[in-house]
Amino acid sequence: MAFVERVFSGVQPTGNLHLGNYLGAIVNFVKMQETHNCIYCVVDMHAITMGMDVWGGPAELARNTREVTAAFIASGIDPKKHIVFNQSQVSGHAELAWIFNCVARMGWLNRMTQFKEKAGKDRENASVGIFDYPVLMAADILLYRATHVPVGEDQKQHLELSRDIAQKFNNDFGDSIRAQGANDGLFFPLPEPLITGPATRVMSLRDGTKKMSKSDASDNSRINLTDDADTIAQKIRKAKTDPEPLPSEEKGLEGRPEADNLVGIFAALSGRAKADVLREFGGGQFSSFKNALAELCVAKLAPIAGEMKRLVADPGHIDATLNDGADRARAIADETMKLSKDIVGFIRRR
Ligand code: TRP
Repeated sequence: MAFVERVFSGVQPTGNLHLGNYLGAIVNFVKMQETHNCIYCVVDMHAITMGMDVWGGPAELARNTREVTAAFIASGIDPKKHIVFNQSQVSGHAELAWIFNCVARMGWLNRMTQFKEKAGKDRENASVGIFDYPVLMAADILLYRATHVPVGEDQKQHLELSRDIAQKFNNDFGDSIRAQGANDGLFFPLPEPLITGPATRVMSLRDGTKKMSKSDASDNSRINLTDDADTIAQKIRKAKTDPEPLPSEEKGLEGRPEADNLVGIFAALSGRAKADVLREFGGGQFSSFKNALAELCVAKLAPIAGEMKRLVADPGHIDATLNDGADRARAIADETMKLSKDIVGFIRRR
């Protein structure tokens, strides 16, 4: 079967979207719209896999779901040309995840490094959902038989698992798939990760060896997508640096994680190579580079924050956008579920 190229990706509505999410994921989502049919999903079902202290409870979940949607739209994702919706509105995600639960092996999931990190020491007390998280993620992607998945580096292992699940399903049910008319026995494509973009790893502004994170205790460690111009500029000026001037070549950034991070952010936001940025600012003091970086961050991010604010002020409109996206997602998902049920041997109304 020749699969139509289709992009799918998801973002969890767990609050505090920041520059790392923007440069690591959303910028690529925006770009993919030019060449592909794209489906962007606010994965609310994934959000509840963690404790309620993490996702904040029902009111916060709804608020954060709308905020991620607003961030997508404010960043330039077009919900009319492409599909933007929240996961829980399309029941196929849960249904296909169940079938995949019976395809995936315990051993595969036991190897997932993110589960080990998230569950921490107290594994007995981790939700079953957090263990099963990558299976639901495979269902998200394969429900639309998506071929390309823009994700951050940290999701690579989960993407490999999605491929393993697709392949095992195709193998296990090969005869049944062929009986349904697919001569090559392929029902699911093997989705490819797209790990592109100049700065897939944005680091903390307080510690260049740690990833920028929504859960860092210091708000100065990150630039939130909702920060206003003054806050953005202040955070950049306060960002940790070392006493040396900026190097003129990329090699000089080795062993200087904070400098490397700030130059990386500048490069990513301006669409230039790091070497090019250093050609301009190398040899100069950090303070003047920081001023230029603050200006750039404000120019690129403050309009997004402003637009997000405008959008979340009208939740009815955001909900209508999500409902419309869900209707269009469901049309694709229902077709996959029908065929999947036939392949597995589940009786359904015809
Ligand atoms: N696990 C992803 C993350 O935390 C979010 C996600 C859920 C996702 N389902 C997905 C990403 C499907 C890509 C495709 O970043």
